Amino acid sequence: MRVIFLGPPGSGKGTQAKRLQEAQEIPQVSTGDLLRQAVRAGTALGKEAQGHMDSGGLVPDQLVIALLLERIEQPDCARGFILDGFPRTVAQAEALEQALAQKGMPVDAVVNFEIDLSKLVERLVGRRVCPNGHGEWHVTFNPPAQPGTCDVCGAALIQREDDQEDRIRTRMETYRRDTEPLIDYYGKRSVLRSINALAPMDEVMGQIESLIGAI
Ligand code: AP5
Repeated sequence: MRVIFLGPPGSGKGTQAKRLQEAQEIPQVSTGDLLRQAVRAGTALGKEAQGHMDSGGLVPDQLVIALLLERIEQPDCARGFILDGFPRTVAQAEALEQALAQKGMPVDAVVNFEIDLSKLVERLVGRRVCPNGHGEWHVTFNPPAQPGTCDVCGAALIQREDDQEDRIRTRMETYRRDTEPLIDYYGKRSVLRSINALAPMDEVMGQIESLIGAI
C-alpha cells in the first residue's frame, strides 16, 4: 500500500504516520526527518537544507526529490510506504508520479488532513522533540512521562527551530502557496480522501483506518 499524508504543518501527519506504520508494518517516510538527520550528520545536503528549514521555506525540489526517490528504493519500502511531508510542490508530485508509473505502482490514496489553520500555532509551539531523533511530544496534548524528558533515552527535550511563532507563520504561507495546490492535483486523479484532523488523535487514527480499509 502506498499512501501520501498531505496537510499543513502541525496537522498531525507525523503523529498518525507513526501509528499507521505500526499498524500496517510499512515504513513512514518523512522528508522532514530525513533532512533533519542530514543536518545532524553535517552532510553537504544537510548544510544546504538547514537555512531553508530554519526559515520556514522549502528545500529546493531537486534535492528533496533525489532524497525521496533513493529512500523508496530501499527494501523496506517494497510492500509500500507512508509518505509524510512529500510531495510538497506540484514538481515533486509529478516526479513521484513518473517514478511510480515506471514501476507500475501507483499511489493508492492521498489522505488530506483538513484543519482550521488558526488551530495549528498552539500545536506547534507546544511540540517538544528528542534531540537524538527518538520522537516528539506535546506539552499538553501528548506529554512525556517525565516533563521535558525523552521517554526513550532520557535526553532533555528541545523545541524545533522552526516551531517559533514567526517561523510557523512563514511555514503556513509556504503551505498555502506551494502545497495547497496539491489538493486539486490529487483531486483530479480521484485518489484524494479528506479527514477531520482537528479531532483527538485516536479519532483521527480511526478515520484513517476506515479509509485504508476501503482501499
Ligand atoms: P516537516 O518535518 O515535514 O514539517 P511539517 O510538514 O511542517 O510538519 P510538522 O512535522 O510540523 O507537522 P505534522 O503535520 O507532522 O504534525 P505532528 O504530527 O508533528 O518539514 C520540516 C521542514 O523540512 C519544512 O519546513 C521544509 O523546510 C523541509 N522539508 C520537508 N519536506 C520537504 C519537501 N518535501 N520539500 C521541501 N522541503 C521539505 O503534530 C504537531 C503537534 O501537534 C505535535 O506536538 C502533536 O503531538 C500534536 N498533535 C498531533 N495530532 C494532534 C491531535 N489530533 N490533537 C492534538 N494535538 C495533536
